Amino acid sequence: MKKLLLLAVFAFSGTIFYQCTRPAQTSSADAVKYPNKDSELALLMREMESEAMTMREAIKKGEEPKDLRTRFEAILTAQSTEASMKTPAFQVMAKNYLKSLNKVYEAPKEERLEKYTLMINDCMNCHKAQCPGPLVRIKKLNTP
Ligand code: HEC
Repeated sequence: MKKLLLLAVFAFSGTIFYQCTRPAQTSSADAVKYPNKDSELALLMREMESEAMTMREAIKKGEEPKDLRTRFEAILTAQSTEASMKTPAFQVMAKNYLKSLNKVYEAPKEERLEKYTLMINDCMNCHKAQCPGPLVRIKKLNTP
């Protein structure tokens, strides 16, 4: 059943694959190239990216990672650059990501790094389907 759902998700999201192909903004020159205001979702994603790095460091040191669950629930409601990015498939994958995020906090300390890796995989799953531009950057969050 879960497999079938995933298949449906991918089939559906294939149609919007062409969107979100511009690489993530990295310099002020890019800001000139992309004068559109950054969307709520894009800003949230950047925060998710930098917080993931911080979270990983904390886990490695055996420290308690900052609890971001409530904050990142905004992924479900934040406005995206193109309204068409927020598909039913997006919502399914966003919920998978939030579940994985939750597991990072619920896991015993020694299993947290593993749960973190699974969470980053959920970032990548959605990006592979909907927004391949930042994939290289996201992959880096999982390399030692
Ligand atoms: C449910 C789908 C989904 C999940 C899960 C997801 N993303 Fe995204 N991400 C997107 C979409 C769609 C955009 C484009 C947002 C826009 O342009 O409004 C995006 C944009 C980005 C960007 C580019 C932001 C910019 O500068 O424009 C980065 C970086 C990013 N995501 C990183 C991550 C990381 C790290 C995670 C996991 C912690 C993650 N994403 C999880 C769908 C997702």
